[in-house]
Amino acid sequence: MSAVAHKPLLATVLGERQERPPIWIMRQAGRYLPEYRELRTKVGGFLELCYTPELAAEVTLQPLRRFPLDAAILFSDILVIPDALGQSVRFAAGEGPLLEPVTAETIGQLQPDRALDHLAPVFETLRRVRAGLTPDKTLIGFCGSPWTVATYMIGGRGSPDQAAARLFALQHPEAFDALIDILVQTSIDYLVAQFAAGADVVQLFESWALNLDDAAFVRQVIEPNRRIVEGVRARLPNAPIIGFPRGAAGNIAAYVAATGVNAVGLDYATPLEFAARHVPAGFTVQGNLDPLRLVAGGAQMEDRARQIIAAFADRPHIFNLGHGIVPETPITHVERLVDVVKNG
Ligand code: CP3
Repeated sequence: MSAVAHKPLLATVLGERQERPPIWIMRQAGRYLPEYRELRTKVGGFLELCYTPELAAEVTLQPLRRFPLDAAILFSDILVIPDALGQSVRFAAGEGPLLEPVTAETIGQLQPDRALDHLAPVFETLRRVRAGLTPDKTLIGFCGSPWTVATYMIGGRGSPDQAAARLFALQHPEAFDALIDILVQTSIDYLVAQFAAGADVVQLFESWALNLDDAAFVRQVIEPNRRIVEGVRARLPNAPIIGFPRGAAGNIAAYVAATGVNAVGLDYATPLEFAARHVPAGFTVQGNLDPLRLVAGGAQMEDRARQIIAAFADRPHIFNLGHGIVPETPITHVERLVDVVKNG
């Protein structure tokens, strides 16, 4: 037995193609699982759940007890960073996240110095999850990318076009850059601490990499992600990092070339043929089944899963959805998908 266990998913992030693609499912812990809904009733707020290591570790492990997935992803949220910086963040049932919006005047009141202490329970969750995983499983940590987190901090909630944050970036360039600087530095410290607590790889969730012209994409997406990769690697030289720039479309090649990530997550709207052509040969891709195909299930789901696997047969590929699993997803469909990916 070798001293270091083989983790197929981690190896794939690092560029080693596997015979069958390893699989995890974006947002795999959560409301489509009855055991999650049950546990959720035991704590008041969603953030409280994120900061209770015993329960957060249990929720992280729930999907792995049901399905032979290759990775666990830390149960937390991208909005723990604004919460840790002292911004008011709450999750209202049925409404999604609600934040007290930052303004050009209040950005200076954010408290980066206290952020890591506030996030200490997250690191305890990772240590517990690590202890509960067999050595072949990869443990994925994560944070939201600065632009995506900033869209919530500035807009105060999710929005279809991120107009508040896009306008803020243009009308208050200095305040915007100061906010991005805070998020870049806090994210670097946060991710380095996640690795120290047992994460094997981290994913940068850039869920709102869409609706940006190419100059804004460089400023708001590429540069902050590149600085995070550089900052983490300055302390952990070989840190494995997956970038997920949802909606990057024609900017995908520039994202891959400039950020330094090891692997790129593809959203489901990215044509397979386009990805195969524009992501350099040999570069690891992750994705990209439409989550609604998993809700509908049946032959269309299986055919599309096989099509995705075939499209990336000549490079390292991690099977995943092209965005998060939705609460309506039948468990039996997830079982079937994992079986198709693992056994053909
Ligand atoms: O298995 C996992 O991936 C669970 C950990 C996780 C959560 N959120 C738990 C969660 C992760 C990785 C996230 C990331 C996240 N959070 C993103 C990026 C991924 C994406 O989907 O684009 C974003 C944009 C958020 C912000 C957020 N958090 C929203 C918009 C919402 C409400 C709508 C929704 O998707 O559920 C949340 C709440 C949230 N985060 C829940 C969970 C399980 C539901 C809260 C509840 O149980 O009441």
